[in-house]
Amino acid sequence: MHLKDRVVFITGASRGIGAELARDFAAHGARLGLVARNIEALAELAGELPSDALPVPCDIRDEEALGAACRKVADHFGTIDSVVANAGVALESGRAHKVRTETWIRTLETNLTGPFLTARAAHPYLAASGRGRLVLTSSVIARQPRPGLSAYAASKAGVEGLTRALAADWAKDGICVNAVAPGFFGLGMGAAFEAGERLRDQVIARTVLGRFGEPQDIAGVVRFLASDAAAYVNGQVLGVDGGYGLGV
Ligand SMILES: NC(=O)c1ccc[n+]([C@@H]2O[C@H](COP(=O)([O-])OP(=O)(O)OC[C@H]3O[C@@H](n4cnc5c(N)ncnc54)[C@H](OP(=O)(O)O)[C@@H]3O)[C@@H](O)[C@H]2O)c1
Repeated sequence: MHLKDRVVFITGASRGIGAELARDFAAHGARLGLVARNIEALAELAGELPSDALPVPCDIRDEEALGAACRKVADHFGTIDSVVANAGVALESGRAHKVRTETWIRTLETNLTGPFLTARAAHPYLAASGRGRLVLTSSVIARQPRPGLSAYAASKAGVEGLTRALAADWAKDGICVNAVAPGFFGLGMGAAFEAGERLRDQVIARTVLGRFGEPQDIAGVVRFLASDAAAYVNGQVLGVDGGYGLGV
């Protein structure tokens, strides 16, 4: 699971889970393309990492910008071996009949079309790498919905279908495609659940391990899927949710 000198392209690296993944990858020797819209946050993170990290501002809804971001990272490091399509949003919630169409579209654009465009922009580099790995980011919500999250749930269910479809399409290019489905983490968008007493108690009651996830709970799993150790794992969605997805 060591990734010495591998080049990993991480979207949504400016904060939350993506920033923690970057810290873990860098601690294990990977060189990084750090992608998000907030260039200041990316530059600050790059400055604190122990390995070479290139901050690249990019909106993952913009296909041209993604092409340019991949070229920039590949020109700088010579290759892209792994892509972690982690960027995502959980916009205002509300019961399905009240969700604004604009919210639905923006959620799908960011959480489903964005990872698809990211994957497609990176495909030539992953194929040329000979050991290409793509790790997408679903959510436990794809299979265990909570009220008020219809757009988010649909986008993440789409990510799970996309994971299997890309795995089937790109196996002949030597690219393994898998996804993680995090449960509730006490950082990033999960922090709001941990902050409110009622929500926190609900989540902890359903998470059979009885706690929110911590950075190391997700980082090692993503690193595994990006590494040689996962060379025969393809088209899988790995729950990283402390057992929340058991539905008990
Ligand atoms: N935290 C949890 O408990 C949890 C649970 C299940 C699944 N997840 C999933 O894990 C992933 C990371 O979530 P998080 O909790 O770390 O959320 P977060 O703290 O809100 O971070 C989201 C990241 O995505 C980036 N992003 C959003 N829209 C973007 C766009 N259009 N273009 C480029 N980058 C964009 C943001 O960067 P900029 O704003 O700088 O662009 C930020 O770096 C998401 O896919 C989320 O659905 C999280």
